[in-house]
Amino acid sequence: MVRPNLIPPTSIRPRPPPSPSLSGLLFRSIRSSPASTPALTPRGRLDHPHHFRPQPRLRLQQLRPISSSCPSSSNSKPSTTQTVLGREYKVDDYTNVPASILKRLTPNPDLPYKPNHPLQLLRSQIESHFGSNYHPMASPFPVVTTTLNFEDLGFPDDHPGRSPTDTYYLNRQNCLRTHTSAHEVETFAKGEQRWLLTADVYRRDEIDSSHYPIFHQMEGASIFSHEDYRVGGKVQTEVEEMESRLSRSKLLEIEDEVDLKMAGDYQKGHDPRMAALAVRHLKATLNGLVLELFGERHRFETSGGATGSQAEPLKVRWIPATFPFTSPSYEVEVWFRGKWLEILGCGVVMERTLERANVEGKLGWAFGLGLERIAMVLYSIPDIRLFWTEDKRFLDQFQTSTGGGAKRTSDGGLITFKPYSKFPPCYKDVSFWLPQTSTTTTSSTSPSSSSQGQGTEAKSSSSSSSFHENDFFEVVRDTVGDLAEDVVKIDDFTHPKTSRRSLCYRINYRSMDRNLENEETNALHSKVVERLVNELKLEIR
Ligand code: PHE
Repeated sequence: MVRPNLIPPTSIRPRPPPSPSLSGLLFRSIRSSPASTPALTPRGRLDHPHHFRPQPRLRLQQLRPISSSCPSSSNSKPSTTQTVLGREYKVDDYTNVPASILKRLTPNPDLPYKPNHPLQLLRSQIESHFGSNYHPMASPFPVVTTTLNFEDLGFPDDHPGRSPTDTYYLNRQNCLRTHTSAHEVETFAKGEQRWLLTADVYRRDEIDSSHYPIFHQMEGASIFSHEDYRVGGKVQTEVEEMESRLSRSKLLEIEDEVDLKMAGDYQKGHDPRMAALAVRHLKATLNGLVLELFGERHRFETSGGATGSQAEPLKVRWIPATFPFTSPSYEVEVWFRGKWLEILGCGVVMERTLERANVEGKLGWAFGLGLERIAMVLYSIPDIRLFWTEDKRFLDQFQTSTGGGAKRTSDGGLITFKPYSKFPPCYKDVSFWLPQTSTTTTSSTSPSSSSQGQGTEAKSSSSSSSFHENDFFEVVRDTVGDLAEDVVKIDDFTHPKTSRRSLCYRINYRSMDRNLENEETNALHSKVVERLVNELKLEIR
């Protein structure tokens, strides 16, 4: 996947490639660093939604298994509304949430609160680290308006993250939240000033060990009144305390040469002195969080365990980024187990956000992080599907001595997952010709007065095909669920005479809990192929 670098490369400094991205990453950002071109971050969430795809599509109508969520309607006319967790949504040309996702929606996410679940351990560790100054907030309803998810946050109409190839829409006005930032305006509007909000988020995506259509993020924010920014005031006092704690720890080595302009600069309406102090507060807070999450483990691993030599420093680096709802904006990476790992996105909250929340005279910062992504690294969890397993062999490994916030197992060790079994994989390939464009353009070409997504949607391009990979992945997931471990494209061929394009994907079927018989896999694969033909109009080769 190659996307244009939306910000012209400049030469701040060469950077080594970050580690491959894991789920929960900060897809709204555009890296401002020259070395962060897509080629260097394969399969990264950071790349992918900025990859402009102005192609017409065929997908959504066919992928709309609404009738399966209301079985009684399957023989009658397609329903014009669908009910999600007791609320009714009008169906329209944007509707694209498959039954397999609909049936997993809950008013509150289970995993970050499930006793002895890795996401619960991580969430509570972060919440206890932040302490009583920060209000831990429960997850709001997963369906949000596109105003909350995009408009209020300044996403332009043609932002790729809005595309129905990337986002699950109930209809043009409502989607499954794609990030916890969707709740910034509401939360600030309630008068909350320092808070941590954990929620399930949803994105249409590829299939591999680190991507799953449902994952969890935590959003954190802290805003202060202008008065708190005075010299010697609350913000400065807190910053100095945090900075001195960090330097006392001696473990952290912070690389932070971010050029302010590359990070988006201070906002016009902000007093630069206050904004600079807010950035310092943000950095000290998040450096402290990194130390909390990775410090002990890094020290243990790099000093050869209990007996060993001096630990290596824990390196953190600050990278300029662009999010429509913060400026300046950054991403934070940690050097852990020999790789740079992106762990969060953050920045100074846009004035727009606080204005929409009717909050006056305040300035502060926000961050967002992906819980699965961090938990996978910390606890060595190799496959994101494992978070959903009920297998005791998984869950029993996260028993802690003290429950909330604990980093240690009941016998005092650092929690590290040990794989209990690996059943053999079973690969099946599927090759197909893409449908010809003229007959497969999307139906949603009427420009709507609402600003939702028609930027990419209405533009018909001369692209050779309306096929989008995420539609393919969706059919696979919707048909076989977690039995697909990963899906990779292994061939892409354009016929020299006819210019028809054919693709070949390899689906790796593997259950995490049991052996899959070849017969069962064949039957699953046939179902996938049948749906590809019927719903995506692909011609199997
Ligand atoms: N919502 C952003 C994402 O999911 C992360 C973020 C949160 C960035 C808050 C800045 C401030 O990519």
